Amino acid sequence: MKVMVIQGPNLNMLGIREQQIYGPMKLEEIHAQMKAFADANKMDIEFFQSNFEGEIVDKIQECLGEADGIIINAAALTHTSIAIRDAIAAVQLPTIEVHISNIYRREEFRQKSMIAPVCAGVITGFGPFSYHLAMVAMRQIFNEIEAIKAQQEQQKRG
Ligand code: DQA
Repeated sequence: MKVMVIQGPNLNMLGIREQQIYGPMKLEEIHAQMKAFADANKMDIEFFQSNFEGEIVDKIQECLGEADGIIINAAALTHTSIAIRDAIAAVQLPTIEVHISNIYRREEFRQKSMIAPVCAGVITGFGPFSYHLAMVAMRQIFNEIEAIKAQQEQQKRG
């Protein structure tokens, strides 16, 4: 089963931007760790980063028929984008919202997520390790989907 990892605005600047908040790790390093987890846990994985809201909406739509789940850090768009929320609701794929920082102990404008209500769950505040936790959660969701499929097939066989 395949997970699509979607990274929003300015996350391409990790390792450079506000290191006191986001730490020194680059996005490529985070992705390398996620890929290693995926390989070890029999998951396919693809990565996408964009600074443009519409491109992120397009990518979520493309996931239909292409991916089985989404891990998304919509970055600043988390707090503003009804379009991203609607795209997640439209494709109806299990989606995990991720943040490096704990958005609930930061400025008030970051404490509201537009996308959380259409996500399976939210992981926020564990630094780059948030992405690892999201992979563990997605593996669990995939296990549950696979178990349901196997059960349905067995029922069909009678
Ligand atoms: C972030 C938190 C957002 O508020 C911020 O705009 C980001 C990164 C995080 O991962 O902590 O760009 O999503």
